[in-house]
Amino acid sequence: MAERIEVLISEEVIDAKIKELGEQISKDYEGKQVHLVCVLKGSVFFICELAKRITVPVTLDFMSVSSYGSDTKSSGVVRIVKDLDESLKDKHVIVIEDIVDSGNTLSYLLEMLNDRKPASLKLCTLLDKPERRRKPVHVDYTGFQIPDEFVVGYGLDYDQKYRNLPYVGIVKFE
Ligand code: IMP
Ligand code: MG
Repeated sequence: MAERIEVLISEEVIDAKIKELGEQISKDYEGKQVHLVCVLKGSVFFICELAKRITVPVTLDFMSVSSYGSDTKSSGVVRIVKDLDESLKDKHVIVIEDIVDSGNTLSYLLEMLNDRKPASLKLCTLLDKPERRRKPVHVDYTGFQIPDEFVVGYGLDYDQKYRNLPYVGIVKFE
């Protein structure tokens, strides 16, 4: 099936929002060091731009998880494919996500990370689809709330494609 991508959020608008998020985080963590946790692969583009906009000391770590269940429905049980390299103990951790959808994966993941006794644990997401939520997830920093549409770009994929688009677009099947 052929698909077409319709721009939802332009590169300029995303850049401006990430700058704003960076300023807010820098203010909230003044005098502290933040440890950004990237959930691969979708969050890579966002974390790179965001980290550059944070003025307090930043450290980074990466993990990869997969959700048991079918491709289209996450069960909420998460398998760690690649774990973090470093301990979270006593660190001010912010989990960086590309999108919060059902919340199934993230509610499980946050609980698991919280067991590692960070000094604090927050969540920052570029996109949020609140209409789709099935598990409550507290989002501390949100870039954009978007309607219930399948989006790609800025790290998000459709069948592993389109992650490299510099904007966020809606996939239209024709
Ligand atoms: P959930 O919150 O457990 O449902 O899983 C969220 C994950 O589903 C995200 O990290 C994305 O990988 C993927 N996802 C959800 N919505 C979209 C979308 O609109 N486009 C691309 N991937 C999506
Ligand atoms: Mg994905």
